[in-house]
Amino acid sequence: MSLFDVYPLFDITPVRALDAFVYDENEKKYLDFYGGHAVISIGHSHPEYVENINRQVGMLGFYSNSIKNPLQEKLALKLTQASGCKGYQLFLCNSGAEANENALKLASFHTGKSKVVAFKNGFHGRTSAAVAATDNPKIIAPINAQQEVELFELGDLKGVEETLSKKDVCAVIVEVIQGIGGLDEATSKFYRQLARLAKKYDALLVADEIQCGFGRTGDFFAFQKHRIQPDIISMAKGMGNGFPVGGILIHSDIKASHGLLGTTFGGNHLACAASLSVLQVLRDEALLKNVTKMSEYFIKKARQIPQIKQIKGRGLMLGLEFDFPIADLRKKLIYQHHVVTGSSKNPNLLRILPPLTIQKHHIDLFFNALEAAL
Ligand SMILES: Cc1ncc(COP(=O)(O)O)c(C=O)c1O
Repeated sequence: MSLFDVYPLFDITPVRALDAFVYDENEKKYLDFYGGHAVISIGHSHPEYVENINRQVGMLGFYSNSIKNPLQEKLALKLTQASGCKGYQLFLCNSGAEANENALKLASFHTGKSKVVAFKNGFHGRTSAAVAATDNPKIIAPINAQQEVELFELGDLKGVEETLSKKDVCAVIVEVIQGIGGLDEATSKFYRQLARLAKKYDALLVADEIQCGFGRTGDFFAFQKHRIQPDIISMAKGMGNGFPVGGILIHSDIKASHGLLGTTFGGNHLACAASLSVLQVLRDEALLKNVTKMSEYFIKKARQIPQIKQIKGRGLMLGLEFDFPIADLRKKLIYQHHVVTGSSKNPNLLRILPPLTIQKHHIDLFFNALEAAL
C-alpha cells in the first residue's frame, strides 16, 4: 500500500531529536528553527516530559471521558495559573482544527446563529467549519463550502460591523498573529474594537491561539498584549510539545450541558501528562522570559543582514522577508547547512519557529548558516 501523497517532502529522515536539534538516520545533525511547524515548545525529548509520559503510560494511558480524570482538573488549574486567564472553563480535544471546530460549534449553540466572520490570509484548520473559515479555496471541498463565512482584511472594522449588524453571525474568529498567512498582526485598537463589536452584536470572539499561544510570543497568549478577553481561546501545537492535544478555554458566561461537546480521545491521560509537563517546564525554566530575550537577540542580528527587508512577528514566531522568493534559500539551508526553517503564503518570507528553549549559540549558528547560504 502506498501513502496518500498529500505532502511535498524534504528528503531527510529524522530518527531522534534533542532540544533544538534533530538527527537523521546517519546521525547528521539539523538545527530545528521550524519546531516541527511551531509545535515544539519545551524542546525535543525534554527529559522531564519523556519521564512523565513514560510514567503515565506505565500507569494508565487512556480511559473514557465517562469516568473521572483528575489530570484534566489539574491541567485546568495549571493553565489558569500559567495564562492568568481566570473565569474560563476547559474543553480538551486532539488537534488545532478540532479546537476551532468545537469553538465555532459552541458559538453557534450559544447564540443560536450560524454565520462566521473570519479574516483574509487566516488559517484555522482542515475540518468542516474551521476550513470554511480558512482563506484558501484550494482546501475547501464542496461539502465544507455550505458553511456561510465572510472574510475581511485584518483591520477592516467597517466591513466587519456591516456584517455583524445583520445579527446572523455566531462567531468572529481571528488568529492574533497570522501564521501561514505571513505573520501579520493588527493594532491593539483593532482587536479591542473587534471584541467590542462582537459583544454589541451578540457574536462570540474566538482567538485562534493554536500557533501563537502557549508562550510562543513571550506572552502566554498573543492576545494578552492587546488586553482583550476573548469568549473562546483555541489552543494546540505547543500545548503538547508534539503529543497531539488541543483544547478551548470557554468564558464562564457560556454554559455547558451534558453531551453538548464530546470526544473519545480528547483529554486522555497521556495528553494531560504531556501538557502538564509543558506547563511545568515553561515555568521551571522561565521560558517566556527566554522567548523575549532570545527574540531581541535574534532581531538585533537579523537587522545586520542587508538582504532582509523586513522582520515580522514577535517572540519566537518570526518572519524574515526578502525581496526574492525564499524557496531555494530554504532548500540550501536544509541540505547544505542543516538548518530547518518554515515558509508561508508570502513566497518571500522565511519563517522562524524554534523551540522556546533556544539560546544565543543556536541563534549564532542560524545566522552563520543564513549568511553562508545568502
Ligand atoms: C493558527 C492555526 N489554527 C489552526 C491550525 C490547525 O491545527 P491542526 O493542524 O492541529 O489541526 C493551525 C495549524 O497549522 C494553525 O496554525
